[in-house]
Amino acid sequence: VNGESIRVLVVDDELGMREGCRKVLAPEGYSVETAADGVAGLELFKDRGDFAIVLVDLNMPLMGGMELIDHLRKLDEDVVIFVITAYAAIDTAVEATRKGAYGYIPKPFTPDELLLPIRQGLERRALTIEARRLREERESRLLEVALERSKSSTIIGCMTDGVLVINRDRQMVLRNAAMTRMMPRCAGLPLSAPMNTLKCPELESLIEETLCTDSGPVIASRELALDKSTYMVNASPVLEPNGLVTGAVVVLRDITALKKLDIAKSMFISMVAHELKSPLAAVVSQLSLILDGTVSGDAQKERHILDRCLLRIDALRTMVSDLLSLTAMETGRFTIKRSALNISEVVSAVLDSYKEKAQDKHITLEMARAPDADKVRVLADRESMMMVFANLVDNAIKYTPDGGQVYLSVECNGVFLKVSVRDTGIGMTAEEKERVFDEFYRVKNEYAVHVPGTGLGLSLVKKLVEMHQGHVSVQSVPGKGSTFCVNLPLTG
Ligand SMILES: Nc1ncnc2c1ncn2[C@@H]1O[C@H](COP(=O)(O)OP(=O)(O)OP(=O)(O)O)[C@@H](O)[C@H]1O
Ligand SMILES: [Mg+2]
Repeated sequence: VNGESIRVLVVDDELGMREGCRKVLAPEGYSVETAADGVAGLELFKDRGDFAIVLVDLNMPLMGGMELIDHLRKLDEDVVIFVITAYAAIDTAVEATRKGAYGYIPKPFTPDELLLPIRQGLERRALTIEARRLREERESRLLEVALERSKSSTIIGCMTDGVLVINRDRQMVLRNAAMTRMMPRCAGLPLSAPMNTLKCPELESLIEETLCTDSGPVIASRELALDKSTYMVNASPVLEPNGLVTGAVVVLRDITALKKLDIAKSMFISMVAHELKSPLAAVVSQLSLILDGTVSGDAQKERHILDRCLLRIDALRTMVSDLLSLTAMETGRFTIKRSALNISEVVSAVLDSYKEKAQDKHITLEMARAPDADKVRVLADRESMMMVFANLVDNAIKYTPDGGQVYLSVECNGVFLKVSVRDTGIGMTAEEKERVFDEFYRVKNEYAVHVPGTGLGLSLVKKLVEMHQGHVSVQSVPGKGSTFCVNLPLTG
């Protein structure tokens, strides 16, 4: 009864019967309501459907007891219904129970003859309600487990790493989509296929290492090259609570891109070493000519040798500073101080500093300066911009034979400022064009081999321009000339 009052509905057309029930039940803590016929009883029940017990008389006006039982059952499967009747007969009792009545109370009755069956009925009601609650809880837990399972299999399925699970009998028990992509052979094999059908001895030996863990569990790792890709493979044991190994989980991670980066880095270092070595070797051999007395006494020859050494050392110094700038940019340590610049003015200053060099080669160096280009501004670092245009003008002069022409133009084109450096020089093939912005790339033709340089200038130009959200491109015709265009975004 738990202190809360249990609601009882008495439906009987005899007032004496209704009040009699109330007199017995109210002192026991039940909260009793009454109705004089089936229709009124049903209304009361519908109004507040929380009656635990209904006592029903069979013979009533408007709606009889049997019909009322039918309605009540449909409304509430837990309510405990007792039939009260003076006309005790087996067949009515049977029919009432068939319709869902719990018991049968013959009238007249003593208080105990009413209270006892009601107590039993309540106990039975509590039991069914509890049983149903348990069943529902179990079902919802089962649902949870099923959801949990489908969640983990969805996660494993979506993983970009390949996952393969092998049991202690060396059979495949799980593989995800990424795994079948990495090892297409996997896809054709049924689950529980022995792992040696994968035909990958490296993988097998790794799994063996994990499964045979006499000296405690180990996670075995190795690189694996399959097809055109490289994978980092980690195999770890699956342990039972008692420490026994029941299988292995193998995870394959695609490290092809990292591997390529690693190789590129090593190549870069060996290129740098090579580029440093040849000028140093040249300087050493030139200086030994003086030291071992080969040119002793000839002041003019000695001077010539020292001049050449200085030239090589100067080129080395430029290269080292270019390298430092390039690596600083890559590691994000290269700082630029941006201000609203008149690029026309910067280009013109660069041009002035190359006048002499152009004159030496009888090259005409000219600039077309559109008036509107002088009015606009670009948010840029002055020193970086000087470097960019100096490199382009330097190349144009370097790779143009005596008597040629170099034209510069600055113009506004929509939201960009466009600077072009055009020359009538040796030009380059489509293939060479593709690679000029690569570090250390230099064209190896008859003209270019005699031109000093390290192949870092244009890679620096590209990085600097891109740091300013700009873009650099090249057009060229072999034997006719090249045009380099730099586009920089305008302010506001
Ligand atoms: N205007 C040009 N005409 C023809 N070829 C060019 C031109 N500019 C660059 N190149 C080619 O592109 C290569 C790379 O140029 P880049 O400026 O990066 O290096 P570099 O001039 O050789 O050396 P650095 O500029 O580091 O002293 C050059 O070696 C040259 O072969
Ligand atoms: Mg250059």
